Amino acid sequence: KSASLTVSKDYKIGKISDRMFGSFVEHMGSVVYNGIYEPGHPTADENGFRQDVMDLVKELQLSVVRYPGGNFTSGYNWEDGIGPKEARPSRIDPAWRQIEPNTFGLNEFMQWTRQVGAEAIMTVNLGTRGIEQAKDILEYCNFAGGTMWSDLRKSHGILEPYRIKTWCLGNELDGEWQIARKTAAQYGQLALETAKVMKWVDPDIELVAVGSSARHMSTFPEWDRTVLEYTYDHADMLSLHHYIGKRENDTASYLAMPMEMERQIEEVIAACDYVRGVKRSNKVMQLSFDEWNVWREPDVAYTPWQIGCPYDWVKFHMEDALVFGSAMLTLLRHADRIQIACQSLLVNTIPMILTEKGGKAWRNPTFYPFLHASRYGRGVVLRSLVSSPKYDTAKYSDVPIIDPVTVYNEETGELTVFVVNRGDEPVKLEFDFRDFGGALAFAQHIVLKHERLNAVNTSDNPFEIAPQAGSGATIDGGRAEAWVDPYSWNVWRFR
Ligand code: AHR
Repeated sequence: KSASLTVSKDYKIGKISDRMFGSFVEHMGSVVYNGIYEPGHPTADENGFRQDVMDLVKELQLSVVRYPGGNFTSGYNWEDGIGPKEARPSRIDPAWRQIEPNTFGLNEFMQWTRQVGAEAIMTVNLGTRGIEQAKDILEYCNFAGGTMWSDLRKSHGILEPYRIKTWCLGNELDGEWQIARKTAAQYGQLALETAKVMKWVDPDIELVAVGSSARHMSTFPEWDRTVLEYTYDHADMLSLHHYIGKRENDTASYLAMPMEMERQIEEVIAACDYVRGVKRSNKVMQLSFDEWNVWREPDVAYTPWQIGCPYDWVKFHMEDALVFGSAMLTLLRHADRIQIACQSLLVNTIPMILTEKGGKAWRNPTFYPFLHASRYGRGVVLRSLVSSPKYDTAKYSDVPIIDPVTVYNEETGELTVFVVNRGDEPVKLEFDFRDFGGALAFAQHIVLKHERLNAVNTSDNPFEIAPQAGSGATIDGGRAEAWVDPYSWNVWRFR
């Protein structure tokens, strides 16, 4: 089988926002407690932050981390998590039916993100709470001083405001599972009024309105249209969420599922642009894909009303990493509209990083496509002309076997091609880079593959699935050739 890819410097989709490489930390299961935060762990620092986890997180070069949820946010009192720890209350969290001890809160999170080198994205509770608490937390975080909440922050030892830029106006409020679910009109009105007040307090912030929580929601995309009609002038982005789960025992269909994510992005853009037309607005609504991931049934049973119980401590399989890689490429292909993307979640719940309480931390296979995209996918996405053999499944037709994205870093002159081979055979891939002149040389080929699609990484065998050097590429006069192994994730670098 063979495929081809032609790119030109001038055919650009858009510059990839640094915030495309974000993740999500929610008070859920053992993401926080026994995940990033475990006082008493042999590697914990004086703040209780596990340094073995932090070292892995730092490898990912995350630009942003969303916090504190998720469904958790819709019942959360942010004030419970500030001030002296001994005075903080323990509460029940109805979203995940867990005990929230509040020993990790806003200031701990900000300290952790600073150590990680990422920026915070904060979500306000528009479930059980509203405008007033959104104003208060913004005042606590971003107001210089001389007011109740900003002076309280100072009394907690944080003299300078955090100046958090990005704020989500609630989470998944279209979902029946959400605490204080709303109709689109109810939410739209509340989001609009909250947005107005928040921007009066701090005009430098940007706001993300809640879009549909999934494409399969019966209210999709009507929810998005209605919410935008309320919030178009005040929100800067609309959120999307998508989790890809294997439905039947059918790998071919599973590997094709990111195509649904592609459709979802196109449909949400259509809803945004429709409202733009209705409003005769010059503004182009941007997207925040602030929850995305693959999903698999948990390996560990969940016990409610615990602190830090693994919620779904999933060891992803090799095939999950391929689907995850395709999902990552789907996001990059829409770099012109997606400003923020957060892989969900970072640690222990459908994670990139797994931990044992008191023990080791290691990389799930999905860690690697994210790592490669974050390291080598900074630049401009080029519109690729792709010719690939295709396949059909019971659910999907015309699925390209070769799924590529090309990124050009104009500063370094480096050209990177990411490719997933969705098929069970090797494919010869011809690259046409003639537009880059004859000087482009092959630099590196990285492959992630395994002979068993159900292989996993465990604490005893953490490198069962790990990137390796690929077979490379030949290049001559701007035309290159390479072999793409069956069921593989690939990174070719040329410069
Ligand atoms: O798995 C994370 C959860 O998924 C988030 O809390 C919620 O927003 C989504 O439904």
